[in-house]
Amino acid sequence: MAEQKATNVHWHEGDITREHRQQLLGHKGATLWFTGLSGSGKSTVAVELEGRLIELGVLAYRLDGDNVRLGINRNLGFTAEDRTENIRRIGEIAKLFVDTGVIALSSFISPYASDRNQVRELHEAAGMDFIEVFVDCPLEAAEARDPKGLYKKARAGEIKNFTGIDDPYEAPFKPEIHLHSDKQTLNEEVEQILALLRERGIIKP
Ligand code: ADX
Repeated sequence: MAEQKATNVHWHEGDITREHRQQLLGHKGATLWFTGLSGSGKSTVAVELEGRLIELGVLAYRLDGDNVRLGINRNLGFTAEDRTENIRRIGEIAKLFVDTGVIALSSFISPYASDRNQVRELHEAAGMDFIEVFVDCPLEAAEARDPKGLYKKARAGEIKNFTGIDDPYEAPFKPEIHLHSDKQTLNEEVEQILALLRERGIIKP
């Protein structure tokens, strides 16, 4: 948990509640937390799902590793400490989205189980749905795809601490959804997620 540096600060409750906003939108907010190796397909699934949700009249918003690292997290690199801070900030941002009633689609490698669990606990403490989606893909398959040419660079020693090569990835122990992106179609993956959102009453049946 990051240190609370400011003192004499207090949470200020407004008049409009999460329930009001849910009524306005016609669905609940939730965080779908996609985790997996670089090139496993997290962003691809999130993009497809976002499109399907919008078609269904559900407001969703993607938070994506590279995008966030170009903005709010531009001062963070890939040391263990920086990855932890990256995930902590995204977790807080995702929570804000859930509070607004939006479905946050968060795709970050998020290699450390403890960081993901912290985000889960933050959500659960606030009565918010946190759905961990493990985008499982063997390293060989992700490396063969190499959409950004980064595995090649990591193998050549041009990128240090690259997840899966010389930096660890801790697979989720009990994710709510376990996708196998090297075996399933994109449509199957999206349908599997939509089914859980319906089952949980986050979106309408
Ligand atoms: S995380 O580990 O902190 O969750 P995040 O998802 O934000 O990572 O960023 C990962 C993306 O940054 C990768 O998809 C890749 O494009 C890029 N990247 C650059 N350097 C590294 C590295 N050393 N390890 C992993 N990804 C890297």
